[in-house]
Amino acid sequence: MSSSLRTFYSWIGPVVVFLSVPQCQATILGDAIVSGKPLSLNRCLAAAASDINLNAVSTVCHEDIQRFYCRRVRDVASKRYTERFVSGCVAGGDKDPELVFRPFHRATIAYVILAHQFPENVKRLVSRLFVPLGTIFAVHIDEKNPSMFNELSIWVVEEGLDYAVQIFSELNIVRGGPNMLHAELLGIRRLLNHTIPWDFCILLSEQDYPLRGNAVLAEYLWVHRGTSFVSVDEGECERDVSYQCGDRVVSLSGGVQYPKIPGMRYASGSQWFAITYQLAAVIGTHLSNSSTIVGTILHDLITVKQPDESFFQAVVLNSEFCSRYSDYTLHWTDKDSMREVRSLTSEYNIMSPGVLIFPRDVAKVSEVRDKSLWAFFARKFDNSLQSTQLKDSLDKLSKQNSRKVWTRVQKHQVPALWRSLASDSSDF
Ligand SMILES: *[C@@H]1O[C@H](CO)[C@@H](O)[C@H](O)[C@H]1NC(C)=O
Ligand SMILES: *[C@@H]1O[C@H](CO)[C@@H](O)[C@H](O)[C@H]1NC(C)=O
Repeated sequence: MSSSLRTFYSWIGPVVVFLSVPQCQATILGDAIVSGKPLSLNRCLAAAASDINLNAVSTVCHEDIQRFYCRRVRDVASKRYTERFVSGCVAGGDKDPELVFRPFHRATIAYVILAHQFPENVKRLVSRLFVPLGTIFAVHIDEKNPSMFNELSIWVVEEGLDYAVQIFSELNIVRGGPNMLHAELLGIRRLLNHTIPWDFCILLSEQDYPLRGNAVLAEYLWVHRGTSFVSVDEGECERDVSYQCGDRVVSLSGGVQYPKIPGMRYASGSQWFAITYQLAAVIGTHLSNSSTIVGTILHDLITVKQPDESFFQAVVLNSEFCSRYSDYTLHWTDKDSMREVRSLTSEYNIMSPGVLIFPRDVAKVSEVRDKSLWAFFARKFDNSLQSTQLKDSLDKLSKQNSRKVWTRVQKHQVPALWRSLASDSSDF
């Protein structure tokens, strides 16, 4: 039996993902997908070892990966993948909006921050975004870096920030695998459980930095209250079955696409999101109940490659929130700087955006600030001097012209204004 071992996906840092299934060869999973008639669990378990390159994962996972594989085989014929999914997205479900007067208050923001290597970046990001009673944080540190976890745990106590900033480290995160999404969900659950109430949850990484003042974002979100920001691309999405063991993610379907749930809408898109409390609360409470829409989506996506770039997309498309999201994120990434980089641990190249530095990127970042009013965060930054200097210049910029100019509207003008807004938006 020939088996190939090659990198199929990696994005940042030290992460390498190995694809380790025999190519172009009949497998139990491939046969089950094509025929819709899977082997029994016992027959699958007896034969699974020859389909899976067990050498690619540690022996502690050998039994589990075979069970995982055979459950995926069995699932092909389960009700979940043969009966039509009932979407929670009801056309015209939202009533016509009514004009409701509300007192202005800036949105309270709960941040989930994913980190694995730059403690100073996390300290600076949290300090920069911190607003007493206006922001709270759940920061996940990759379990591969326990000293960073210790350093930040001590830091939040020393700074007296522990009531607002939770540092936790529960998962080994590998790009392409399920733990990135699991860490985001654990962060959301912690924030939902927080005593400080909030309006929006925003996902950031330690390599992000704000482009504007905190008050500008909090006002923008208040104006957009009820709207989640999730970038949704309903093109082809890959359904490559994958399994994580330690710091390895293994592809088990060798390029064969796992079936979709009939009737479910799928999409992929940027991992970065800003979601409303209401959406986060539905996710947090329904997550572990596989009879719910959120639970069904999680159960399905967590077994395929890169679920962090498809979960929130599927949730907004298939739930009551389908008419309450905007198809963009609040992050700006310099797409022109995407380049191939070599990984230290692999002979294969990966794609990654370049690090933003001073003074080279000042003009570019200023232009984004001026022209892209949706852009509240830029990425990516590292801990180099030049990257830190660019943050210094962003801090200075964010103090200038950071406030929007608001114009007073007379009450009698409101109906006309509303009609004009409504007709404008129908052009989109
Ligand atoms: C939620 O908060 C309660 C009380 O502070 C705590 O006991 C519990 O462990 C928390 N749960 C999570 C998921 O953080
Ligand atoms: C799981 O969700 C279903 C469907 O919404 C609901 O009927 C059931 O009570 C839930 N189970 C639990 C344990 O919450």
